[in-house]
Amino acid sequence: MEAKIIDLPKFEDPRGNLSFIEEFKQIPFKIERTYWIYDVPGGQVRGGHAFREQQELIVALSGSFDIVVDDGKVKKTFSLNRSYNGLYVPAGLWRQMQNFSTNSLALVLSSTHYNQDDYIYVYNEFLKFRSKDEK
Ligand code: TYD
Repeated sequence: MEAKIIDLPKFEDPRGNLSFIEEFKQIPFKIERTYWIYDVPGGQVRGGHAFREQQELIVALSGSFDIVVDDGKVKKTFSLNRSYNGLYVPAGLWRQMQNFSTNSLALVLSSTHYNQDDYIYVYNEFLKFRSKDEK
């Protein structure tokens, strides 16, 4: 499966716009956890690992940042800078978040509870994990 940008609903209103996400509707998973990344100093990188099971949707609620998604063969960079776009990242991809603008706010909806055992932190292990998948 590939990472892809999901266009979220957007209700434009002179009073201010509104967008929303419902599990199994705009996203293909049940939301078990939400976390957010903020106050990122310029030049810092977050992520830089893969998840065995976790699927996620990442939204730039404010500001902008890039997400580099890598399947072990091809790397793709997605730029998020709209509150009504989310990047869906399926399980089993290496991903890194970078180029955070000042005051950016990254919302992550996750399909799993926090589980350190789900992380693959070493790139070579990730490649091994991917090659097992292909057999
Ligand atoms: P981590 O996922 O390693 O951040 P990043 O990959 O973006 O650098 O998480 C950083 C710390 O936060 C780590 O010590 C574990 C803790 N953490 C939780 O306790 N629960 C969570 O849901 C998340 C995402 C992190």
